[in-house]
This record gives sequence, C-alpha cells and structure tokens, in this order.
Amino acid sequence: MSTLDIFRLDGRVALVSGGGGAIGSALAVGLAGAGASVAVGEIDAERAEAAAVRIRALGVDCLAIAADVTDPAGAERAAAETVDRFGRLDIIVNAVGGGAGKVIHDAQDYPLEDWDWIFELNLRSTLLATQAAVRHMIAAGNGGRVLNISSVRAQLGIASGYSAYVAAKGAVSSLTRQWATEWATHGITVNAIAPTFVDTPQVAMLLGDPVFKAGVLARIPLGRVGETSDLVGPALFFCSDAASFVTGQILTIDGGLTATQ
Ligand SMILES: NC(=O)c1ccc[n+]([C@@H]2O[C@H](COP(=O)([O-])OP(=O)(O)OC[C@H]3O[C@@H](n4cnc5c(N)ncnc54)[C@H](O)[C@@H]3O)[C@@H](O)[C@H]2O)c1
Repeated sequence: MSTLDIFRLDGRVALVSGGGGAIGSALAVGLAGAGASVAVGEIDAERAEAAAVRIRALGVDCLAIAADVTDPAGAERAAAETVDRFGRLDIIVNAVGGGAGKVIHDAQDYPLEDWDWIFELNLRSTLLATQAAVRHMIAAGNGGRVLNISSVRAQLGIASGYSAYVAAKGAVSSLTRQWATEWATHGITVNAIAPTFVDTPQVAMLLGDPVFKAGVLARIPLGRVGETSDLVGPALFFCSDAASFVTGQILTIDGGLTATQ
C-alpha cells in the first residue's frame, strides 16, 4: 500500500451540496478524481448537470440532483436519491452559500430581509443538507465525513457592510465544532475550510475594483487571492482516511492573511 492511498476515496460516496457552483464543482471533481462516486446537489439543474458531465469525463459515476437544500424536503431528497443510486453516503460537502457581495449594508441599518436571506443561503442550507446526510450515515453505521465551507470572515471583520455574512459564517464554524463533538460517537468527523477571497463569479465584481483588490492583496502575505484549485487538497485531506483523527477543525486557506492579525 502506498502512503498516498490514505487520500483515496475508492468505494466512498460523496454528496456535494451546491456542487454546481464555482467551489462546489471544483471539490466535486476533486473528490471524484480521488475515486469517490459523487452526487451533485444543486438548485440549478443546468449547473448540476454541467458538473456531472465534467465528473463523468473522468470515468466516474455521477448523479445530478436538482434540489433546494433550504427546503427540508429538498435536502432529504438529495440525500435519499444519493443513497438510492449508490447504496451509501459517506461524505457530505456543504458548498451552498455566499451572497455577501450582493447585500452590502451599514451594520446599523442592516435590513432584516437581507439578513434572513444570507442566513438561509449559508446556514440553513448547511444545517438541512447535513442533517439529512448524517441521518443516513448514523443509520448505516459506517462513520462519515462532513465538510463545511466557512470563511475567514467568521473570524475577521471587514470594513464593507458584511454583517450578515460574518455572522452566518461564524455560526457555520461554531456548528462545525458542535457537530464534531456530538457525532464523534458515530465515527463521523466534521471539519470546515475557511477561505479568503477565491477567484469566482461571486466575488468578481468586488475584485474587479482595482482599489479594493489592491487592498486585499496588500493584506495577503502570499500576494494573491485563492483559486478554487487551492481548496481541493485540504478538502480531500478532511474527507479521506488521512484525517481520521481530525475533527472539529476549521482550516483557513488564506495565503497567510489570518497569520498577520
Ligand atoms: N468565492 C469566495 O471568494 C468564497 C470565499 C470564502 C468562502 N466562500 C464560500 O464558499 C461557498 C461556495 O461559494 P462559491 O463562490 O462557489 O459560490 P457559487 O454561487 O458559485 O456556488 C454556490 C452554489 O450553490 C447553489 N445554490 C444556491 N442556493 C441553493 C439552494 N438553496 N440549494 C441548492 N443549491 C443552491 C448555487 O446555484 C451555486 O451553484 C459559499 O459558502 C461561500 O460563502 C466563497
């Protein structure tokens, strides 16, 4: 057995919630490349199918599921269809979220409607998709992996109207630790990755402002924003046997940004 085999996911089944998105699709393709069968759960059926096409091109089985995971029935169906198709569910990756750049408001006037939307997109989606998946994991008794996507904004404020997003991601990080504590008894590990800006459509407008981008880059020791490919190795680590004794951890992926604070 090669040392690298501890990163392999052959025989495992992953559901990537939001797997049609910029980060979700990169992680779904990464998990498939390590041998996992992958289900892509997505509210946008076309995005789900596009990710599935990329995964099938690797010769890996992939199921595209159109589902809204902020709806309990949608989250339940995504998990159930994964199990129906592949016979098991070992890994849930929560890549639904974001929205921060669309609802920038001064903290003292942050509108409740946008607050609720950000919490629904980032926290409720993570809660419901995970609950549905973990119920299957507990029933099967094979352990499992939960990987959440938090953000450096869970620990760092930002002078640009992000109140709801920082609060929602703070809650995602807290839930990561709470779930790790509760589900350890079932052999289920729960971890999170917490990136800084990743070059994706979600942040294209913000990073398109040269002054804003220069300010961001000046604070990142490695001198660049993240790429979706930067997240694949850490995700694979957490989802594989390489991280069997690692749970409740939040790994910042930020080119050294938080090291400077
Ligand atoms: N892009 C960044 O710079 C960055 C930085 C730190 C953290 N993150 C986090 O990474 C995650 C993914 O971000 P992204 O940039 O890939 O965003 P994205 O918008 O490209 O991907 C999110 C995907 O989720 C899907 N989705 C939205 N609502 C859904 C629902 N109710 N049910 C099912 N699917 C739904 C969308 O259709 C989309 O494909 C988010 O949690 C975001 O907060 C992103």
